[in-house]
Amino acid sequence: MESKTSKIGRTITAIVIIIILLIGSVGYLAWYNFFRQVDTYYESVEDHFKYGSIGTENAEGVPYWIWLVLPRIFPDKLPKPGGYTSLGITWEEGQELPVGFSKKIIGFPRQGITCALCHSATYRQTPKDKPTIVLGGPSNKFNLQGYIRFLSDCATDPRFNADYILDEIKYNYDLSWFEKLLYRFIIIPRTRKELLDVKESLAWMEERPDQGPGRIAQFNPVKFRVLGIPLDNTIGNSDMMSIWNQNQHEGFALHWDGLETSLTETVNTGAIGDGATKKSINIEGLKRVEDYIRQLPAPKYPYNIDQALAAQGSQIFESNCASCHGFGGEGIGTVIPIDEIGTDRYRLDMWAQEAADAYNEFAEGYDWDFDQLRKANGYVAVALDGLWLRAPYLHNGSVPYLTDLLEIPQKRTKVFYRGYDVYDSEKVGFIAEGVEAKKEGFRYDTMVRGNSNQGHSYGTELVAEDKQALIEYLKSL
Ligand code: HEC
Ligand code: HEC
Repeated sequence: MESKTSKIGRTITAIVIIIILLIGSVGYLAWYNFFRQVDTYYESVEDHFKYGSIGTENAEGVPYWIWLVLPRIFPDKLPKPGGYTSLGITWEEGQELPVGFSKKIIGFPRQGITCALCHSATYRQTPKDKPTIVLGGPSNKFNLQGYIRFLSDCATDPRFNADYILDEIKYNYDLSWFEKLLYRFIIIPRTRKELLDVKESLAWMEERPDQGPGRIAQFNPVKFRVLGIPLDNTIGNSDMMSIWNQNQHEGFALHWDGLETSLTETVNTGAIGDGATKKSINIEGLKRVEDYIRQLPAPKYPYNIDQALAAQGSQIFESNCASCHGFGGEGIGTVIPIDEIGTDRYRLDMWAQEAADAYNEFAEGYDWDFDQLRKANGYVAVALDGLWLRAPYLHNGSVPYLTDLLEIPQKRTKVFYRGYDVYDSEKVGFIAEGVEAKKEGFRYDTMVRGNSNQGHSYGTELVAEDKQALIEYLKSL
């Protein structure tokens, strides 16, 4: 005969087992739907550069399905038709994601950004052509500020709710009954809140001059949001840079003002700046990017070059420019003091020793820790490889064409349009004036704070024929 106590004992054990099973399955469900990580590995390094995760999805990534349908719900908040491409984002035919975007499952699919968002250029010979994409070039038409404004404007709109969003997602993907519940009660409200928080934490941008396409305030968001530096009045608007051919740049100071000296740290701070956290940063994936940009060649000029004229120009380059820009020149890759170079100083004054110290402290204890950030006092004499595709020129993108850079500052173009990617092979740069450029581009006024086109007057005294020869040579770099 079984005793009464053992019966009670068995019942309690059964209840405990049921409770454990219940907690276990709730735990499993929570883990599966919010934390389970599934990454995509891209065989080709180009695809990895374009789409491979660098670890930005956790903190800053919008849930993929929501992100995908926002342009369809809010076309009124975009500058023109075309969804995300209206913000200068490039979407190759047949690809799941635009260039510069990653997708990773962390419980549910989330979207993130990659280096290629700001480091891939496009150009066209005529407006009818399909743009050619050049990886590693500066993204001349991508408007990051416009993109941030679009996402936060969506979140402030009452249509940003489960009814609208789920109704739109169904055209792309069949969410299960349970997933719909999660989206309705957790994921959509949380995304809205996160986007509103981002809007608030970037409110300072609205009080400063617009960045426009191809330019961003690279370091101020990191200063204020990641490093805890108090808000200041600086304007850090700077042009995207090309990142190819890094092996030949070994030992050069990095960034426009040379605030870094290590390429690995520049790559990893790039990911932190894009929203990766100490925990989520994908060091292995970033190493693959670094190896790629080390040997990625600068693109050749795609149009005709008059070789005899270029050979003449090479002599002029030797005597006027090579000391600072020729590989092997004593000044290349070093910081030229601001008083000597005389270009706009807002970008330089955005960065201070205090910020460099905070960044050097930031990842203390991690084996990828930063130590090489510093404050410099001028701008780097950058290598000119692939120069033809790097217009508009100078760190703030204030000079639309190479021919313009060889004019004295007073005679350079005062107002132009940037973000139009049709190429002007006469002036060497993108078409920046006229009806089409005006329609597609952003009005760049050199009188606005941070936009000055003064300084760098090297070569401006050359006679017209010498300038022409020099330009021909510069095309070949
Ligand atoms: C949101 C746009 C953006 C993204 C994304 C981005 N960068 Fe950059 N990057 C810039 C800008 C702008 C600069 C120049 C900033 C400055 O110095 O003011 C720059 C500078 C650099 C430089 C310095 C180049 C030189 O010659 O000095 C390197 C290297 C670089 N980025 C690599 C990367 C890598 C690798 C990634 C991805 C992990 C990345 N960047 C992601 C915008 C971006
Ligand atoms: C004393 C050093 C020095 C000399 C000499 C010099 N430069 Fe520069 N150059 C710089 C510096 C520094 C910058 C970056 C300035 C900035 O962006 O504010 C620069 C930037 C440039 C850029 C813009 C690059 C880009 O990506 O936007 C071009 C083009 C250029 N120089 C061409 C020339 C040519 C052509 C000559 C010769 C006629 C020349 N430079 C002579 C120091 C020099």
